Amino acid sequence: MASNSPLSSSPTSVSFLLAYDTAYEEIDRDSSVTTSKSRSSDDDTSDSSGPITLKEFTKALPPILRQQKENERKSSTHQKCQTQNALRGTKDDPVNILFSRLDLTLGEWKKYAMFESKKNYTRNLIAMDDETFTLLLLCWNPGKESPIHDHPCDGCWLRVCQGKIQETRYEINTETDRMDVTSDEVFEDDAPAFINDSMGYHKVGNPSTSTPAITLHLYCPPFNQCKIWLDPSHASSPSKACMCNYSEYGVTHLCEMFEVNMI
Ligand SMILES: [Fe+2]
Repeated sequence: MASNSPLSSSPTSVSFLLAYDTAYEEIDRDSSVTTSKSRSSDDDTSDSSGPITLKEFTKALPPILRQQKENERKSSTHQKCQTQNALRGTKDDPVNILFSRLDLTLGEWKKYAMFESKKNYTRNLIAMDDETFTLLLLCWNPGKESPIHDHPCDGCWLRVCQGKIQETRYEINTETDRMDVTSDEVFEDDAPAFINDSMGYHKVGNPSTSTPAITLHLYCPPFNQCKIWLDPSHASSPSKACMCNYSEYGVTHLCEMFEVNMI
């Protein structure tokens, strides 16, 4: 499971995040990223199962994703691609394994945790490379949620950094033209959760009426728009939402509002 952006209740003023025109930067803008733990090498992530820092994670991730794409290209059979796709989000998925090793107890994510009381939630860019991944920290106000949305990418991985998160999944019922609920779960530990479009669509929110929640989201590869369903009784009429980030690399800036066009 995982989610996308915050939006207002109006279908013409949905505010989402988009940060794909931003040059990639090393996330290690302050020394705390690497000095939080003593390590022999920043590159030593491939032969270890131990915890890793944000810098180590963002350095190790792109080669894994590029290799996966290369494997897909070289694959002579459709079955091999299906096998790789079936691995995504499982305990045997290299991305899932690396993401689960990211040590959230270091608190590196805290510098990106920026709330805005007028928004359901904020999207805060931690790192991206404009090719293989986007890593975001989402800050959820109490009782607020995303719309139902898809994930036009290979997958979305999510971990809970603080508080609780509720995920409701849907599938399209072509006979009734409704989005039918297929599952409804609350997550409060930091184990990775995963969703892609073959598993359905979802909305994510903070079920607490008093406590803010914070989640870490990994999207591979990046995307700059997605479908949202503001009315689950009209499954064949999603809206298109573009996105913007509330902050990038720990710096807040105003989010532009994008028109949502029916598709
Ligand atoms: Fe999502």
